[in-house]
Amino acid sequence: MPPMATVSHALRFAQRTARMRASTIREMLKVTQQPNVISFGGGLPAPELFPTDAIADATRAVMNEYGPLALQYSVTEGTPEMRRWVAQRLGHRFDMDLSPSNVMILNGSQQGLDLIAKIFIDPGDQIVLESPSYLGAIQAFDAYQARYLTVETDDEGMIPESLEHVLEHADPFPKFVYLGPTFQNPTGRTLSRERRERIVAICEKFELPILEDDPYGELRFEGDDLPSLLSLARKATVIYLGTGSKIVAPGMRVAWVVTKSADVLEKIALAKQAADLQANSLTQYVFHRYATSDQFDEHVRTIVRTYRERRDVMLDALAEHMPASTRFNRPSGGMFLWVSLPGIDTEELLPVCAEQRVFFVPGVFFYPNDDVHDGMRLNFSNAGNEKIRLGIARLAEAVRGFRK
Ligand SMILES: Cc1ncc(COP(=O)(O)O)c(C=O)c1O
Repeated sequence: MPPMATVSHALRFAQRTARMRASTIREMLKVTQQPNVISFGGGLPAPELFPTDAIADATRAVMNEYGPLALQYSVTEGTPEMRRWVAQRLGHRFDMDLSPSNVMILNGSQQGLDLIAKIFIDPGDQIVLESPSYLGAIQAFDAYQARYLTVETDDEGMIPESLEHVLEHADPFPKFVYLGPTFQNPTGRTLSRERRERIVAICEKFELPILEDDPYGELRFEGDDLPSLLSLARKATVIYLGTGSKIVAPGMRVAWVVTKSADVLEKIALAKQAADLQANSLTQYVFHRYATSDQFDEHVRTIVRTYRERRDVMLDALAEHMPASTRFNRPSGGMFLWVSLPGIDTEELLPVCAEQRVFFVPGVFFYPNDDVHDGMRLNFSNAGNEKIRLGIARLAEAVRGFRK
């Protein structure tokens, strides 16, 4: 056989690809698959808690009950069963009126970030972000050539005065603000109730739509639930993203976007049709079957109990092993905590940690505009207690070695 012809012409990719870079984190995570490596880097749920038997049973039940319907093309908005379930669960959680027509089912909430970017962002448009912010959102917005206005944060999340200041001086005026108000990725912080009200009021005053990303809200370890921005808004357009990834399993890719704006939902539906026609029918049926079973609420409680214990183990280990100058927070839910090592560039620390076979994500990646180098994101959901203790001891060893 003759050898395959090599491509000789230059490929003329679209300009938007210029900002699509291989995620350093994803590249790094490949290394963490090696044995004996303890990774606090990824954002993975605990695989041993996946309800594998129950999902197998639910799949069989769906095949018996729906058969070909669950394997056929379906509507872009999602199955009526899933839309109803989301409207009821969120309506109950946030004490608000929601109807299935406010809900669309997505292939992961990451798809929601992409579709929302697609319908709002023209090249050069500005988006308001917390500093630091979720890297996957920055990646999604980068692909549409967004620019960023960043708002200062502290332990209670976004600072309303800083948001107001940014909006007063913004030119061009931003398209929306993206927020993770509850157990934020990457910091684990939660926006206080008072700030939620103030931020919604500011967005109403400036007529700025809010993109509320809430993958972790059901993973609360202590304290009372707080109202979502979606439920607080009177006039503001809030587009809320939720997901089954952290309460059932991310591989199912079942997630949802919820908004009272019919115009926004219609545009997302058009964008979704062009992207993938619809979310996976089979996993929507299976997810719904499992989520409406007696086992589901107990399953979520088990996840919460397990992650709470892992957070505590990690906090104890940090207090025991890390140098006294280390600062870290105590998130009341979710999967991440944030560590600051004053005077240390955590990106430079990473190779030393690789020698110790422990990984984390350097904080600098989560800042789209600012150079903040002393932070790190630690995930506490994926590794068991023993591994957490050992991993933090290794991390402390690396920090001491780095300082010498
Ligand atoms: C803040 C945030 N948003 C969205 C996602 C995407 O989740 P999924 O696409 O699995 O629903 C993640 C995943 O870790 C996340 O942390």
